[in-house]
Amino acid sequence: MRVLSGIQPSGKLHLGNYFGMMKPALELQERGEAFLFIANYHALTTVHDAAALRAATWDVALDFLACGLDPDRTALYRQSDVPEVCELAWLLSVVTPMGLLERCHSYKDKLAKGVPASHGLFAYPVLMAADILAVQADVVPVGRDQKQHVEVTRDIAMKFNREFGEVFRIPEPMIREEAAVIPGLDGQKMSKSYGNTIELFGDPAETRRRIMRIVTDSRPVEEPKDPERCNVFALYRLLATDEEREAMAARYRAGGLGYATVKQALADKLAAWFAPMRRRREELAARPDQVEAILRRGAERARAIARATLAAARRAVGLE
Ligand code: ADP
Ligand code: TRP
Repeated sequence: MRVLSGIQPSGKLHLGNYFGMMKPALELQERGEAFLFIANYHALTTVHDAAALRAATWDVALDFLACGLDPDRTALYRQSDVPEVCELAWLLSVVTPMGLLERCHSYKDKLAKGVPASHGLFAYPVLMAADILAVQADVVPVGRDQKQHVEVTRDIAMKFNREFGEVFRIPEPMIREEAAVIPGLDGQKMSKSYGNTIELFGDPAETRRRIMRIVTDSRPVEEPKDPERCNVFALYRLLATDEEREAMAARYRAGGLGYATVKQALADKLAAWFAPMRRRREELAARPDQVEAILRRGAERARAIARATLAAARRAVGLE
C-alpha cells in the first residue's frame, strides 16, 4: 500500500493539521510505503513573499520530523524538488472538465476570503491530482476539507485512463471521522486563515492564553453540561486516554465543573503531549545539513517513481 499526503507551507502548523492529517499519515507509515511532501508550488497560490515561503517550508520539514516522521520509512520532500508534477499537471489538465473545477468548494471559499482569483488557484486541484498520481498512491490521508480534491483526482485519473489507456492507479481518500474537522478557538474549523488556531510549537504561555479564549456557552459552574457540544472537550478528547475522556465527560454531565478547569486540563495535556516533540524539533533545528539531506533523499525516491509515471503518461498521449 502506498500512502501520500501533502501540506502547504503557508503558516505555522496547528492541531487541526496534526490530528486531521499528520498523525493519521504518520501512523500509516508503519503499514506501507509513505510519501509526505511540502506543497510549496501550491503555497504560491497565496504566499507571494520568497523569504516567508522558504521559512515556512523549513518549518514544515522540522514539524514533520519532530512529530515522528521516520525518514527511512517515509520519503519527506519539497514538492518543487519533483518538478515532474508540473508537466504531469498539464497532461491531466487537458482531460479535466472545467465544470469539475468550478464545483470545488475550496476555490470558492478562498475567493470569499479575498484571495485573488488567479489561474493557479483555480487549477490547484489539477496540480494536487498530479502530486497524488505521479507516485501512484493508493491512500491519501487528509482532513474532510480535502476530500473533494481527492475525488477530483479520482475523476481525472479515470478519465485519463479511459481516453489514453491505463496509466494511473486510482487513489482513495482516508478520513478519520473522529478528527475530520477539528474546531478552532471560535468553534469554526481550525484554520490558518481564520486566526483561530492552536499551534503545535507555539510559545507555551501564549498557547495557554489562547486556550483560555476558547469559546464556550455561558452556563455557570454548578449546571450540568453537554460535553458533545463543547469546543474545549472536542480538543481534550483527542489528547486524553479513553478513561480520562469518559471521566471528564461524566464530570460535565454531573455539574460543578467550570470551563476554566477543563481549559487548564487541556493546556496541561497539550504541553505534555508535545514536550518530547518540541525537544526533538530543537535538536533538528540545530542540524540543518541533516534535515536538508533527508529532504534530498526523499525527493530522489519520489522522483524515481514520478519520472516513470510521467514517461508512461507521455507515451500514452503521443508525446513519445
Ligand atoms: P489550513 O486550513 O489551516 O490552511 P490546510 O488546508 O493547509 O490547513 O490543511 C492541511 C491538512 O490538514 C489537510 O489535510 C487538511 O484537511 C488538514 N486540516 C486542516 N485543518 C483541519 C481541521 N480543522 N480539522 C481536520 N483536518 C484539518
Ligand atoms: N491541498 C492540500 C491542502 O491544502 C495540500 C496538498 C497538495 C495535498 N497536494 C496534495 C494533500 C496531495 C494531499 C495530497 O491541505
